[in-house]
Amino acid sequence: MSTPPDREAPAAHPIEALLRRRWSPRSFTGAPVSATMLDSLLEAARWAASCNNVQPWHLVIARRDIEPAAFAGLLATLSPNNQGWAGQAGALMIVAARTTFPANGNPNRHAWYDTGAAMAQMALQAAALGLQLHQMAGFDPAAARIACGIPEGFDPVAAIALGHVGPAEALPEALAARETAPRQRRPIGEFAFRGRWPE
Ligand SMILES: Cc1cc2nc3c(=O)[nH]c(=O)nc-3n(C[C@H](O)[C@H](O)[C@H](O)COP(=O)(O)O)c2cc1C
Repeated sequence: MSTPPDREAPAAHPIEALLRRRWSPRSFTGAPVSATMLDSLLEAARWAASCNNVQPWHLVIARRDIEPAAFAGLLATLSPNNQGWAGQAGALMIVAARTTFPANGNPNRHAWYDTGAAMAQMALQAAALGLQLHQMAGFDPAAARIACGIPEGFDPVAAIALGHVGPAEALPEALAARETAPRQRRPIGEFAFRGRWPE
């Protein structure tokens, strides 16, 4: 099962079941992600909205079973904490944002916003397929640029582990505790203001 009942978001108001089922696991089984599933994930990302429809997101994907050398190279760019669990993912990815508009070379200050939107769509598609993905800031962007051959003008934004979810007990104790800790969010009133930002 990709979303154990205790990982489903305890939403305070009605939201789509798919949104409740998406979460960021650390325990993956190591099972492969099929080419068909990967195609669907990329298609979901492809249809995200973006400023001027320039679609600034770019991905380098390394499947554990098909591109093992690239997978190992990408794993090595992760922080030690993330390396502690991400090696069992079915695939690792780096998502990079094109930082300028292709038409005129002007800076695109929404490139990161749009790249995040594309990855949010991918995350939901993953949950729909019984997979999950786990986005990571804990990686070395300079090392990822070299490992993945990412050219200048593209900013490595996040690393992503993707795969079939494994049991929490497969993780070291400290990570297993985080895997089963209650899911929490700030209340709506702390981030959404009616009419005007509060004094
Ligand atoms: C941009 C970004 C960076 C993150 N970086 C890390 C990371 O380096 N390591 C990690 O274990 N989790 C990381 N996470 C996962 C978050 O901790 C997680 O999304 C958050 O705790 C909410 O949990 P949920 O995704 O299960 O709802 C990151 C998430 C995002 C969106």
